[in-house]
Amino acid sequence: MVNSIHPARGTSAADLADAALTQAVIDSFDGSRSARFAEIMRSLVRHLHAFISEVELTEDEWFAGIDFLTRTGHITNDQRQEWVLLSDVLGVSMLVIGLNNRKPPEATESTVFGPFFVEGSPHVELGGDLARGAVGRPCYMSGRVVGVDGTPVPGARVEVWQSDDDGFYDVQYDGLDHMQGRGHLFTDDDGGWRFWSVLPVAYPIPTDGPVGDLLAAAGRGPMRPAHVHFMVTADGYERLITHVFDGTDEHLHNDAVFGVRSSLIATFDHHEAGTEAPDGSTPDSGFSTLEFDLVLAPKVDTPAQS
Ligand SMILES: [Fe+2]
Repeated sequence: MVNSIHPARGTSAADLADAALTQAVIDSFDGSRSARFAEIMRSLVRHLHAFISEVELTEDEWFAGIDFLTRTGHITNDQRQEWVLLSDVLGVSMLVIGLNNRKPPEATESTVFGPFFVEGSPHVELGGDLARGAVGRPCYMSGRVVGVDGTPVPGARVEVWQSDDDGFYDVQYDGLDHMQGRGHLFTDDDGGWRFWSVLPVAYPIPTDGPVGDLLAAAGRGPMRPAHVHFMVTADGYERLITHVFDGTDEHLHNDAVFGVRSSLIATFDHHEAGTEAPDGSTPDSGFSTLEFDLVLAPKVDTPAQS
């Protein structure tokens, strides 16, 4: 028999029990202008409510979470992207990359973008100096950009950024008036690229912000194995964002951001002073070399989203 005085729970937007509350919030997106937006928000609410219920979040913990996210926003600026770092240490970045970069097996795998890319890097001539003052052991890096069938990709834009021998990117130095350890090149007719820079070293991700607090609370280390970042763009190919890792690094198996792919592990060769380098020069100090081909997947046309 219907109770005419007290309506059944869940039929109005007041006095909702937990499950009905969740459903009411999900239903509140029924009028969304974009079907995709509604799909994402309904799923977010469903999982967020389930997570809070599962751990029986206390009010103090809820406030600590709000405070953590507030601090993450406050420390983020043009030079410091704490949100990307948070996404990285939670494995979210690699999950998104994995979902969105299903490629032919011959293509170079993608990995995290990281928080240290900046727009407007200097153009470096092929064979030129990309270190631009970054300290470290000289390292000559070279390779080709090719398609999955081995076809050279001339004119590809190869963007490179890396830390110096102290484990810092240029943007981490206060007052530095120029970019260093970063630049972009264009491949030659054979898809070739080459430049001098410095040998990358392992470095800790920034730990002086809320993400550092999270790692400390978890007893996790902040180290990333030595790597160089590459972003390659060329007409007719999918953009590639990746790293090349030093295969001798002790942190390859506990990367703080879960970014290592075995196919991206390379060998850096080390040479004594007086040895002839691949560009025909004879450096008067010890130096290293890396050779690595970057293989691009063909462009896939994605259907327009509703
Ligand atoms: Fe990096």
